[in-house]
Amino acid sequence: MANAALNIVAICGSLRKDSYNRIVMNALPGLAPEGMRIVEAPPFSDFPLYNADAQNTTGFPPAVTALGDAVRAADGVIIVTAEYNFGIPGGLKNALDWLSRVPNQPFAGKPIALQSASPGPLGGGRVQYDLRRAFVFLDALVLNKPEIFIGNCTQRIDDKTGQITDEPTRGFIKQQLSAFAKFIAAHGGKV
Ligand SMILES: Cc1cc2nc3c(=O)[nH]c(=O)nc-3n(C[C@H](O)[C@H](O)[C@H](O)COP(=O)(O)O)c2cc1C
Repeated sequence: MANAALNIVAICGSLRKDSYNRIVMNALPGLAPEGMRIVEAPPFSDFPLYNADAQNTTGFPPAVTALGDAVRAADGVIIVTAEYNFGIPGGLKNALDWLSRVPNQPFAGKPIALQSASPGPLGGGRVQYDLRRAFVFLDALVLNKPEIFIGNCTQRIDDKTGQITDEPTRGFIKQQLSAFAKFIAAHGGKV
């Protein structure tokens, strides 16, 4: 049987206009295997700070519902994120906290792939393990390997042209996306 199209949504954990992680996210469609369609998820930048009182009085903001619906409808989610202070950037963590409270929690059973870029040598290694821990609680299915940590990213990504200039990095990302397609075929299936 021919591979059915895989609809993937990508979330960038950095809100910065010229973000290296955003450049990586924007490059993903060009590095994806045949049959994998990757689009950016609805934004979380306008989510209010999570507060259970707000949830219980005014309910879920429309932007939260929109992102939750997009995640739920997708065959898989790719998170490309910066690392802040050895952890998850506050905006992204706030988005995960909102989504974790939405009925029919959208990450449950959802295949996830993680990528991170940093000017530092570890490329955001620590934020990925923070995300993995959060996704355990959310019952998501996080791809184990290959891992994508783009260290020393200023030498591999040109923020003037918005391109990943380092060919091995492009190759590693291609390998991960192919592995992600197989992972979804083996373990995915929308719930
Ligand atoms: C608040 C803050 C905390 C940071 N903490 C880390 C860190 O823990 N590890 C790291 O590798 N880089 C850290 N950095 C540097 C970021 O990796 C760098 O700013 C990077 O460009 C952010 O990703 P972006 O280009 O996608 O916005 C931090 C930057 C900021 C602004």
